[in-house]
Amino acid sequence: MERVVVGITGASGSIYGKRCVEVLISKGYGVELVVSETGRKVFEYELELPLENFISSLPEDLVNVYSPSDLFAPVSSGSYPVKGMVIAPCSAGTLGHIASGATVNLIHRAADVNLKEKRPVVLVFRETPLNRVHVENILRVVDAGATVLPASPAFYARPKTVEELVDFVVDRALTHLLGKSCGLFKGWTP
Ligand SMILES: Cc1cc2nc3c(=O)[nH]c(=O)nc-3n(C[C@H](O)[C@H](O)[C@H](O)COP(=O)(O)O)c2cc1C
Repeated sequence: MERVVVGITGASGSIYGKRCVEVLISKGYGVELVVSETGRKVFEYELELPLENFISSLPEDLVNVYSPSDLFAPVSSGSYPVKGMVIAPCSAGTLGHIASGATVNLIHRAADVNLKEKRPVVLVFRETPLNRVHVENILRVVDAGATVLPASPAFYARPKTVEELVDFVVDRALTHLLGKSCGLFKGWTP
């Protein structure tokens, strides 16, 4: 079973991270889940769902959950075999930590080691508008091998629900992470 690290940070859009976890599990991937301190608060606020309730709904054999302060966790090491990592949503703060190499929590550290191991790292970045620091940090992480995928759904498929908008972004993120489509979104067909 291939495993993927999923980081959920305190940017708006916790629903993207939740959906990434659900889709990965449904496709048979193991998930190594890390939710930042603020990520937990925003998740519970935006989704009106205690994080523990979400976690307890997931299959135990497919999901490992780590505290963001647990730098002894397996995903802290580049030798732990994972396919790659997605951070959804990714805050400007976490982007800055990854861009500078200042790995303070387990999400920063896991991104850092996956980049050094040349594995796919997808940052579903959520902030608007962008200041110069954001733009420079995006450039730095892209140069280091990351994919920065703004949480920016398209409307050409005429989405009718929030879930369809979310799935557009999640499909694009997981396609870049896994190297194949998850089939959530069929792409542009005129
Ligand atoms: C309700 C709420 C929404 C937020 N939305 C964003 C956002 O969209 N983008 C962002 O970069 N930060 C956002 N923040 C700020 C981050 O949570 C804050 O910078 C935090 O320190 C990020 O830490 P983390 O990346 O470790 O989760 C938001 C905070 C709150 C409370």
